[in-house]
Amino acid sequence: MSTQKTDPASYPRAEVSPPSGHLFPHKHLLGIWNLDPTAIKHLLDVAEGYVDLNRQASKSTETCSGLTQINLFFENSTRTLMSFEIAGKRLGLDTISMSTGTSSIKKGETMLDTAATLNAMHPDVLVVRHGDSGAVKLLSEKMDCAVINAGDGRAEHPTQALLDALTIQRRKGSIHGQTIVISGDVAHSRVARSNIYLLNAMGARVRLVAPPTLLPADVDLLGVEVFHHMEQGLEGADVVMMLRLQNERMQGAFLPSLREYYQFWGLTREKLKAASDDVLVMHPGPMNRGVEIASDVADDLDRSAIEEQVEMGVAVRMACIDVLTRDLRKEAAQ
Ligand code: NCD
Repeated sequence: MSTQKTDPASYPRAEVSPPSGHLFPHKHLLGIWNLDPTAIKHLLDVAEGYVDLNRQASKSTETCSGLTQINLFFENSTRTLMSFEIAGKRLGLDTISMSTGTSSIKKGETMLDTAATLNAMHPDVLVVRHGDSGAVKLLSEKMDCAVINAGDGRAEHPTQALLDALTIQRRKGSIHGQTIVISGDVAHSRVARSNIYLLNAMGARVRLVAPPTLLPADVDLLGVEVFHHMEQGLEGADVVMMLRLQNERMQGAFLPSLREYYQFWGLTREKLKAASDDVLVMHPGPMNRGVEIASDVADDLDRSAIEEQVEMGVAVRMACIDVLTRDLRKEAAQ
């Protein structure tokens, strides 16, 4: 089994980094693939502190006051956009979300011209979601500020993997040594890819459970075990992450029918019996109940961490914004 990390299609490797010696020596957060365990652990440690703050009645800090954050989403989002907006506001940034539906993108402006326009307004953090793999990296090269990838095509969704990691760490004590199943439409899922990189880096055993048509072409290079039978893949699993069928990224037929998909690949109570007794069930959302997951499994409060994942999302995004603006704030304070 190889553990070589593969670069998602058109995902360039170079990234300008701040001086070494930092626990997080990166200017941007574009993906997990180029982060070492120290950098991942640092973000999780900082996020842990924000979990407590987010549970208090008064949730605001002045940590990043005076800074400006722009959220630029070229694809739909509920959880990710809202949590980035809340995260920025709780840290004291002026946070603006730009909907591409009402912007000049509708008039034909290119993504890079939009980036240049936003850059001229001197934001300090730009959060970007885009339907094309590699688009956020390209955009980051045109921006002076820190750029956070909120999901690019099927390539990466780093903050989702970090919030999943924080959820697992809090529920299971650690990520190291856990057997973690990622099941469903792996081929089209940026969540799966970022999670594979992160969980491997942190010492988990990763299993992919999916029909052959829904596995990525480079699966042999990802350092995972592959199963084409759900009960076999679930055997003794500590964590199961279910994935939505990414119909918007599919060209052609990948499945015979949704009913058949649910029968073979949907997570039901019956299939879950194969996993360990205290298995944790996760899903990044949005869920398709009765397609990849049964309602009674999703809503089982003893096993499902789905709402906790959303909660951890705010803390993780606060941590990312905090860490990426530290040097800037230090400079401003001098
Ligand atoms: C995921 C995404 O957009 O990649 N959603 C999310 O950010 N919580 C997963 C999905 O859309 O299925």
